[in-house]
Amino acid sequence: MNRKGTVWVTGASSGLGLHTATALRDAGWNVIAGARSFREPAFRDGMNLLPLDVTSEESVRAFRDRALAISPEVYALVQCAGMLVLGSCEETTVEEFRRVMDTNFLGMVRMNQQVLPLMRARGEGRIVLFSSINGLLGIPFQNAYTASKHAIEGYAEGLQMEVRPFGIQVMLVEPGDHRSGSDKYRPHGSRMNPDSPYTGEYERTVARIHHDETHGRDPDRLGRRIAKALERRRMPFRRRIASPDQHLAVWLHRFFPARLNEAVLRSYYTKKRKIR
Ligand SMILES: NC(=O)c1ccc[n+]([C@@H]2O[C@H](COP(=O)([O-])OP(=O)(O)OC[C@H]3O[C@@H](n4cnc5c(N)ncnc54)[C@H](OP(=O)(O)O)[C@@H]3O)[C@@H](O)[C@H]2O)c1
Repeated sequence: MNRKGTVWVTGASSGLGLHTATALRDAGWNVIAGARSFREPAFRDGMNLLPLDVTSEESVRAFRDRALAISPEVYALVQCAGMLVLGSCEETTVEEFRRVMDTNFLGMVRMNQQVLPLMRARGEGRIVLFSSINGLLGIPFQNAYTASKHAIEGYAEGLQMEVRPFGIQVMLVEPGDHRSGSDKYRPHGSRMNPDSPYTGEYERTVARIHHDETHGRDPDRLGRRIAKALERRRMPFRRRIASPDQHLAVWLHRFFPARLNEAVLRSYYTKKRKIR
């Protein structure tokens, strides 16, 4: 058993979840990682891998039981599982909105409901929730995702107030673009097609999003920053990990009038220009 205790990490099969799980393992934590593509329980690369679908109550409970059989305590839960659907508000189906909310937001709620009684009983614990810059400001054609990340932001504020008296700390991670995401988890909405009235702006926005991610920040560095934050006596409630431009965008969003914000962000994402 590891000296630093046990951390559960969701969405740990790829992207920032995998980089975070790896950094936690390297920092000496006992990592129990969950994702749907871990089809059978396994021990690989110094981590326990367990099947987990955060949209299923049954799967979440099975994950908890298996994790507790491996290690009877959980010090921290790091929630990275996420997805998005690209599409206009008009053409993204309600079912697609539901799938994104169910994964990104309700998935966190389900996992938290499993660990909170365990952490309360111990009188300590840490919960790390992956939000996004899009939890703070909206951009076009990523609306279901943006809504889910805004939900996480509000939920986390109330959660922290409720659980602080039990010695449990909550941290929101707000990443900007990182070179980690996979297109597999960013499908185009089923109704988006070349005849859509939004096609031009949609395609330019998707190209911009893709460009910013592929030129984004180092995911290993993000993993190490989370590992470091977990060891602090007091975790910060918000940890924004983004480029200076994105920090500035959040700041302007807070202080600029809404119309000016809209003009700046709309132009950035939808204006015709060469994207290199
Ligand atoms: N990449 C960025 O630039 C960026 C920026 C801001 C925020 N984020 C946030 O960071 C987190 C990771 O995103 P990413 O882009 O780095 O990774 P990603 O490559 O898109 O990976 C998503 C992860 O979530 C898991 N997942 C999806 N649905 C799941 C479900 N129902 N149950 C359990 N696991 C599920 C996937 O594993 P399986 O398919 O194996 O289940 C995968 O491990 C997300 O919360 C995302 O919103 C990322």
